[in-house]
Amino acid sequence: MINLQKLKLGQKFTLLLVVVFLGGILASGTALASVLNHNAQAQLTTKALMLMETMNSVRSYTSDHILPEIADRLETEFLPESVPAYSAREVFETLRGSPDYAEFFYKEATLNPTNLRDKADNFEAQLVAQFQNPIAPQEVSGFRSISGGDLFYIARPIKITQESCLDCHSTPAIAPASMIERYGPNNGFGWQLDEIVGAQVISVPAQTVLKAARQSLVLILGIFAIVFALATLMVNLWLKRYVVRPLNKMAQVAEAVSMGDASTEFTVQSEDEVGQLSGAFNRMRMSLQMAMKRLERYRGNSRSSPDHST
Ligand code: HEC
Repeated sequence: MINLQKLKLGQKFTLLLVVVFLGGILASGTALASVLNHNAQAQLTTKALMLMETMNSVRSYTSDHILPEIADRLETEFLPESVPAYSAREVFETLRGSPDYAEFFYKEATLNPTNLRDKADNFEAQLVAQFQNPIAPQEVSGFRSISGGDLFYIARPIKITQESCLDCHSTPAIAPASMIERYGPNNGFGWQLDEIVGAQVISVPAQTVLKAARQSLVLILGIFAIVFALATLMVNLWLKRYVVRPLNKMAQVAEAVSMGDASTEFTVQSEDEVGQLSGAFNRMRMSLQMAMKRLERYRGNSRSSPDHST
C-alpha cells in the first residue's frame, strides 16, 4: 500500500487522476467496445445488403435479358451464362478480386439445389425454415461457428417470383435437355411459384468484424490516454506554480520569522486561497512583532523602575 501521508501534493493529484482515469477507461472502454462492435456489424451489414441487391440485379438481368436471347440454343448445348445463379456467382467472384470484398462469401443455400455445392447445411436449412414462416423477419444476421472459425452472416429468403424460373426448376421433362445432361434429373426440381426455396447468405469471418471494432477502440483509447497525460502534466505544472512553490516560500519565511528575523515578509500576491493565507500570515507576523515590541518595552520599563532596582 502507498502511504498517502508521505506523498507530495503533486504526487497525490497524479495518483488521484490515474485512479479516475483507470476507472473511467474500464467503465467507458467496456461500453465503447460494445458500441463499436455494434457499429462494425452495422457497417458490414450495410455492405453485405448492397452486395445482395447487386447480386439480385445481376440475377434479374440474366433472366430478363440474357436468357431470352439464348434460350433457343439451350436445347442443343448448355450455356451457364443463361443461369441467373451462375452469373451471380461469377460476378461475386470478380468482386472478391477487389481487396474491399476479398473476405466476403456468397451462397445461395437451397434445400433442394440443382448444384449440390449449393445445398443448405443444417444451420442454413433452419434459416430457410424460419423464412418460410410468413410472420418471421425476412432478413436475419448474426454469428455462427463453422469448422474454419466464426462467421458473421446476413441472410434473406430466395423466393421463386417469376414463371421463367420454372422452365428449369419445375420438372426434368420441361427443363432444357442440355441442362439435364449436365446436372441430372434428380436435383433442383419440383420448385413452386412463390415458394421459398433457399436463403441468400453473405458472410464474412467474425475476425473481420472484431478487427474493425478493435482498431477503432485502440485509436479512441489512445487519444484518451494522450489527453489524460497532457491533463495530468498541466495539473502538475499549475499545482507547482500556484500552490507548491508559494507554499514552500511561505514555509521558508515562517521558518525565518520563527528564528526572530523581523525583516522577511510573506510576499504571495495572488487572490486565491494561497494569497489569503499569505496575507493572514503577514498580519500574524506583524501582530507578533508588535506583541514582542510591547513585551520588550514592558521589560525595559520594569528594569528601569525604582521598585525593582538592585
Ligand atoms: C436456364 C435454366 C434456368 C433458369 C431459367 C433458372 N435457373 Fe436457377 N439454376 C439453373 C442451374 C443449371 C443452376 C445450377 C447452377 C450452378 O451450377 O451453380 C441453378 C441454380 C439456381 C440456384 C442455386 C441453388 C441451386 O439450385 O444450385 C437458385 C437459388 C436458383 N437457381 C434460382 C432460380 C430462380 C429464382 C430463377 C428464376 C429467376 C432461376 N433459378 C432460373 C438453371 C436455371
